[in-house]
Amino acid sequence: MENIKSYVQQHKDRFINELIELLKIPSVSADTAYSQDVIDTAEAVKESLSKAGCDLVEVCDTPGYPIIYGEKIIDPNLPTVLVYGHYDVQPPDPMELWTSPPFEPVIKKTEIHPEGAIFARGACDDKGQMFMHVKALEYMVQSNTLPCNVKFMIEGEEEVGSKSLGWFVERNQEKLKNDVILISDTGMISNQQPSITTGLRGLSYVEVEVTGPNRDLHSGLYGGAVANPINVLAKMIASLHDEDNHITIPGFYDKVEELSADERAEMAKAPFSLEKYKNALNLNDVYGEKGYVTNERNSIRPTLDVNGIWGGYQGEGAKTVIASKAFAKISMRLVPNQDWEEITELFTKHFTSIAPAGVTVKVTPHHGGQGYVTPIDSIGYKAANMAYTETFGVPAIPVRSGGSIPIVALFEKELKSKTILMGFGLDSDAIHSPNEHFGIFNYLKGIETIPLFYKYFVELSK
Ligand code: BES
Ligand code: MN
Ligand code: MN
Repeated sequence: MENIKSYVQQHKDRFINELIELLKIPSVSADTAYSQDVIDTAEAVKESLSKAGCDLVEVCDTPGYPIIYGEKIIDPNLPTVLVYGHYDVQPPDPMELWTSPPFEPVIKKTEIHPEGAIFARGACDDKGQMFMHVKALEYMVQSNTLPCNVKFMIEGEEEVGSKSLGWFVERNQEKLKNDVILISDTGMISNQQPSITTGLRGLSYVEVEVTGPNRDLHSGLYGGAVANPINVLAKMIASLHDEDNHITIPGFYDKVEELSADERAEMAKAPFSLEKYKNALNLNDVYGEKGYVTNERNSIRPTLDVNGIWGGYQGEGAKTVIASKAFAKISMRLVPNQDWEEITELFTKHFTSIAPAGVTVKVTPHHGGQGYVTPIDSIGYKAANMAYTETFGVPAIPVRSGGSIPIVALFEKELKSKTILMGFGLDSDAIHSPNEHFGIFNYLKGIETIPLFYKYFVELSK
């Protein structure tokens, strides 16, 4: 029986072309203008799972976009791996910054990806990474090496908060029963140094609205005499961090898990170059919470960031006006033990309390989720590490990521199983940014590594 390496070599052009076809469908879940495309993508995922060898594939209707469920059960007494991924993507804007159209995938070489990378929205997050699992299944079925049962659950609302997935999981606990959940929707350190994500941050996402006068006013006739909502909003937002860049919301840090000096020393061992980091982003310096280094600031520490801010006149030229309203979208990334609903409440209370007389403030929560940490002594972690070690030639390093996949904490709560985050993307792959891409090397390495996870997971489960 041919092994996975030669199978990938033999079929790589088809693997790449199939992914390219999937990337052509603009499955932007945030924008209803694309809703038919999201549904078409769900169908395409269903087809791909059937072709790869699932015995049962269903398009499961939800209050939102459909969830694709697929399975191949070879023996109920063997372990079951549940693969999760998402087929929706982030909006592509700003369009003018793409060097090729976001839904017309092309392969281009980059410094980090000398063998080429596929440029398209969703290439890495998450169509490319999700599809590695479909192709790994194809290999295991074709070569008769699938060592256990497998279930797939691929959703279309991850980028907008996974509302329907929570609904689906609560209603299908029996169907989704598994021994481990496997997800490729994170990154790794570099193509030479694999890593396994052992933590994800939680999230609270809110929108704020500051209202002053009941209409836009002449900024000469009224300026200085009434509160300007944009001035006030800017001041309120600025006050949310102190001079050391700590967040000033009372109670915000109360439950934050503090890492021991040993744990921080362990983290500091992961290879990282501050110079390269700054150069890649064209920055003259980094910025953040006093007392923590970059790799801590973006993983084990909570944050508060404005994601968008608007109000007033933004057209050409100048218009002398005091706007009636100002708005901002704010995300807070949370760390273990912080509860997102509690933090949302603390934010709302504090933000409302700091509003000066002369304006009114409205806070609307969007979505959120809990953070996640997973131990490195589980069978799943060990199996993943053995798989990476075999395909990359070096063991993986455990790394806590700054990103969020809120549904992971819910999986643990509802399905009582651990999640293994086997990501193959790189931070430089520009997920959520213009020119998102996924290395051909990474895509094929992922397909190669996944079957080994199954093999070792089953071996270690015995
Ligand atoms: N795949 C990302 C999350 C991610 C990326 C985690 C890289 C770790 C490393 C996911 O699609 C995502 O973008 N999640 C959102 C949260 C969601 C609720 C919108 C995020 O982190 O902003
Ligand atoms: Mn993702
Ligand atoms: Mn994403």
